[in-house]
Amino acid sequence: MKPSVILYKALPDSLQQRLEDHFTVTRVNNLSPETVQQHADAFASAVGLLGSSEKVDTALLEKMPNLRATSTISVGYDNFDVEALNERKVLLMHTPTVLTETVADTLMALVLSSARRVVEVAERVKAGEWTKSIGPDWFGIDVHGKTLGIVGMGRIGLALAQRAHFGFNMPILYNARRQHKEAEERFNARHCDLDTILQEADFVCLILPLTDETHHLIGKAQFEKMKKSAIFINAGRGPVVDENALIEALQNGEIYAAGLDVFEQEPLPASSALLTLPNVVALPHIGSATHETRYNMAACAVENLIDALAGKVDKNCVNPQAKP
Ligand code: GLV
Repeated sequence: MKPSVILYKALPDSLQQRLEDHFTVTRVNNLSPETVQQHADAFASAVGLLGSSEKVDTALLEKMPNLRATSTISVGYDNFDVEALNERKVLLMHTPTVLTETVADTLMALVLSSARRVVEVAERVKAGEWTKSIGPDWFGIDVHGKTLGIVGMGRIGLALAQRAHFGFNMPILYNARRQHKEAEERFNARHCDLDTILQEADFVCLILPLTDETHHLIGKAQFEKMKKSAIFINAGRGPVVDENALIEALQNGEIYAAGLDVFEQEPLPASSALLTLPNVVALPHIGSATHETRYNMAACAVENLIDALAGKVDKNCVNPQAKP
């Protein structure tokens, strides 16, 4: 008999088939307590779990005593209780490489659209407001040649630095725990502390995972240090930023604009003050959301689960120490 797994996200047919070639698959819509109760036997016997964007915590793990591996269709895994997984010797696999270039494209789109006010002026055109040659009230600010500050120099930061250096001739400052030789050699990036980035960068781009250490890393004091002309970009995780402080900084003109793909609460509530501000570009967490990349992430996650359950954890494993 094939081992049992729970699938909590729709997969393209070919990938669902690949999963079914290896496992008996129970497809559920989510991981809510109601769903778990409804499929209690399947959850109790499952050795694998595959999906994305749902909480995997102790309460769920208690219902899955046979679980040996989880595979998330994402690079981020802040929705997993990794300590609880480690205690139970459950492997956690993720998709760190396949989305790098696409997320860097999204970041560059946020940089360009917030600086040149692309969304705002396109909406004005659609509203029939383009009735004469435009004046300075429709102008934006230049991107090329401006200083880009990258907070979090991982794979995505590096791909953004490449675009900014070669495509836009931007000097690059970066903050990371360690110096990044490749970023320095290839893109002339300068390692500096967070305050220096806040004070000197024209664009402050956050690409950080959410951890206890990064929660509300950027708040009132940090916005106060930024230039009044600075544009703030976040495409990592929403709670890294104190969103109320961001709203205040935008309302008070402490910064020029913001380009945001992530929020403290997602989906962003329609009542959010961010949606009333013309100098905010708000995207619905589309970082990796292209047909090609989402397929590749799902394919990677399927292979990750197959590998993990076969004891192969040499790549894409968050906690190889949990291997029994
Ligand atoms: C997207 O936010 C991801 O973690 O893959």
